[in-house]
Amino acid sequence: MAHTLVTKKILITGASRGIGRGIAHRFATLGASITLLARTASRLDEVRNSLPKIPGMAQTHTSIVGDVGDASLWEEVKITEVSLPLFIPSRFH
Ligand SMILES: NC(=O)c1ccc[n+]([C@@H]2O[C@H](COP(=O)([O-])OP(=O)(O)OC[C@H]3O[C@@H](n4cnc5c(N)ncnc54)[C@H](OP(=O)(O)O)[C@@H]3O)[C@@H](O)[C@H]2O)c1
Repeated sequence: MAHTLVTKKILITGASRGIGRGIAHRFATLGASITLLARTASRLDEVRNSLPKIPGMAQTHTSIVGDVGDASLWEEVKITEVSLPLFIPSRFH
């Protein structure tokens, strides 16, 4: 499989389960470095530890615990360093 997303940094909200988690896995398989965002730290840890890393390539997966509706969260997120932000809406909002 081509590692077409090597060097890309992708931020995914709603990434601790469901569609966001699935997208995170897919993009990590293609070589991207993933930043996961959701409110539940334990679930984020589990997902981050399960993401694939391509041997020999600089690929770092991180997570941010927070609520997308919290304006102060977005002051902390370095969005200009992100290649692609993916905002997965929660089904409850
Ligand atoms: N699953 C499907 O088959 C399907 C099909 C069609 C459309 N959709 C739509 O796709 C979207 C995602 O579906 P899903 O099944 O992946 O949903 P899900 O399983 O409920 O996952 C929602 C994700 O968003 C996070 N989240 C919820 N509220 C948040 C908030 N305020 N701030 C930050 N993170 C938040 C949740 O983690 P925390 O609770 O830890 O924050 C979780 O990671 C929904 O709009 C759904 O209607 C889903």
